[in-house]
Amino acid sequence: MHRDAAAPEADWDARAAAFDDEPDHGLRDPEVRAAWADRLRSWLPGHGADVLDLGCGTGSLSLLACEQGHRVTGVDRSPAMAERARAKLAGHPATILCGDATAPPVGERRFDVVLVRHVLWALPDPAGALRHWRELLLPQGRFVLVEGVWGTLSPVGVPAARLTALLEPLSRDVRVEPLSGDSLLWGKDVDDERYAVVATV
Ligand SMILES: C[S@@+](CC[C@H](N)C(=O)[O-])C[C@H]1O[C@@H](n2cnc3c(N)ncnc32)[C@H](O)[C@@H]1O
Repeated sequence: MHRDAAAPEADWDARAAAFDDEPDHGLRDPEVRAAWADRLRSWLPGHGADVLDLGCGTGSLSLLACEQGHRVTGVDRSPAMAERARAKLAGHPATILCGDATAPPVGERRFDVVLVRHVLWALPDPAGALRHWRELLLPQGRFVLVEGVWGTLSPVGVPAARLTALLEPLSRDVRVEPLSGDSLLWGKDVDDERYAVVATV
């Protein structure tokens, strides 16, 4: 994630081919993959759920969710990312759409989970996006948001305190899980702020 952190306006099409080279993106290392699978299992419902993965990238988390018995709709604005996600999710109960995460092209469908990893920080209006995503959740649904503040010299990102403040009016229960101390997730030690928020509506 670190390499992407300085450029919210990044050309994601251009980055798609090498995106999975980062340990936490491609989840190719079995230990990194298992670490994300364990966390995701603890964040998602215990039953088969409809998961909306916004800014799904190459679909690595979508695939983990499918492998855990969930049905996934992934949305990404980058055609190259969406194409890779489609290939990765082939044969799984998943649909990958090309579109804007802030106004996902899902019509009247509603979801048990809105899953977003490393996307909110790059959006021009995170508060507006969260309000819209809240409307896409079923009763008892939940946000699973994985974000951070990357880098120390010129940090970029969304601090957990800001994200929880945005979620308070939209959720019944907001839980922050620090992730910086778990080097298995990143394939290395990190000392910046990384976290997940699970917020039940
Ligand atoms: C850092 S990547 C994260 C990908 C994936 N969520 C993951 O964790 O592996 C950010 C992704 O968000 C997508 N993205 C950024 N802004 C978007 C928007 N407004 N609508 C849809 N996708 C967007 C990019 O194309 C890119 O695939």
